[in-house]
Amino acid sequence: MSATEAETKTVLQDFYSDPAVIDDPRSYFDAMRSKCPVAREPSYNSLMVTGYDEAMEVLTTKGGTYSSLTSVVGPKLPLPFEPEGDDITEQVEAHRDKFAWSAHIVCFDGQKHADARTLLTQLLTYKRLKANEDYLYGLADRLIDGFIDKGRINVVPDYAHATTTYAICDILGIPEEHRAELLELIGPVPSQLDGDAAHKVGTDPLIFLKDRFDQYIAERLENPRDDLLTELTQLRYKDGSTPDPDLLARLARFLYGAGQDTTSRLIARAILQLGDDKQLQQRMRDDPGRIPDLIEEVLRYDTPVKCAYRLALKTTEIGGVEVPAGTVVNVALSAANNDPSHFPNPQEFDIDRPGNRDHLGFSKGVHGCLGAPLGRMEARVALERILARTSDIRISEEHHGPPGNRTYRFEPTYTFRSLADLHIEFDPA
Ligand code: HEM
Repeated sequence: MSATEAETKTVLQDFYSDPAVIDDPRSYFDAMRSKCPVAREPSYNSLMVTGYDEAMEVLTTKGGTYSSLTSVVGPKLPLPFEPEGDDITEQVEAHRDKFAWSAHIVCFDGQKHADARTLLTQLLTYKRLKANEDYLYGLADRLIDGFIDKGRINVVPDYAHATTTYAICDILGIPEEHRAELLELIGPVPSQLDGDAAHKVGTDPLIFLKDRFDQYIAERLENPRDDLLTELTQLRYKDGSTPDPDLLARLARFLYGAGQDTTSRLIARAILQLGDDKQLQQRMRDDPGRIPDLIEEVLRYDTPVKCAYRLALKTTEIGGVEVPAGTVVNVALSAANNDPSHFPNPQEFDIDRPGNRDHLGFSKGVHGCLGAPLGRMEARVALERILARTSDIRISEEHHGPPGNRTYRFEPTYTFRSLADLHIEFDPA
């Protein structure tokens, strides 16, 4: 097969359904970018943005050109109306409550979004999060105590996911006795590949947590405690007015959901890198001060949230390509982070890369991730402790094959880059 044939085959794959793209998104993105940094993909006709500058352009455009209503599921669900004309703002507003995930901040637009974001910005400050750092160190050590003598673990459930779940529970103030039940309720990552079934998620996919979180908010309003849920209930809008308790409960549920899988994916992916690169592993042990650079490079190289989606409200242009109103734009964060015109030799994992915080791993613009400082801190502590408590982390050949011929399973989602499991072996330090 010639290079062009291979490229054509790759771009004809269905990004939103083909398991081969889940396993190897890099080849797909590279092929799309080499066609054009802004190009239609053939399966759902979304406009895929794979260039860094073009992605930045979409994410930072102001003035009601794009909506975030499609932010989580993208083009796989049809719009709940037939777009008409060059400005569909009114149509979108009339159908807003029919979009999947529309109950949550990540899909809000305009003033409603700005107001909700003002609340969370007061909450997730670096100073506030720093207060939880000691808990994170203790948590990492407790988890490691539980498996250090075994010499092997499945990192995804036993360390990465356990870290992020306990961390968000602790910082929010979720009672110990509810944690196991909430974990069970949240369950495994749902498949995004199985056609419609995967998207029968409704406006509020976190509704199953509603009773619990409504109760938490009501309790904190009545009896304030020393936790983030209490601080949430004490927040005020800029004009001093009080937010609706239902919005507070939705924000709390979103923080609970958003705060787990994303960071857990980052931790697991970083440990994979360490297990496959002995030199890097030694370097990180010798100089833990460089762990933050490792984290930034993982966020760039194998971005945990591969894509963020926008809906063009008005007919516009991206990088000179016309975008009719009603187009779902796939801002491929992972592709932008591997654009050679911004990151030279993007296929090389290089923690010394200049400008290593320049990536779009947390997106950019008005919807940029509010939990980035927390995600970074959890990952840093988890990596510091596992490196300090072990002397040689190895990828399990039994589960993943020999070096140079490894196989890894990824969760069936086109939005997230999510290792399903990662088996490692190690020697205690
Ligand atoms: C490594 C970990 C994480 C990654 C890679 C990540 C990634 C992202 C991305 C890409 C977005 C933007 C989506 C868009 O532009 O449409 C986002 C939004 C958001 N994230 Fe994170 N996230 C992480 C951790 C967290 C944590 C720990 C929390 C909170 C506990 C959190 C809370 C949020 C919130 C509230 C938003 C919505 C912001 C808005 O719509 O204004 N994230 N995240």
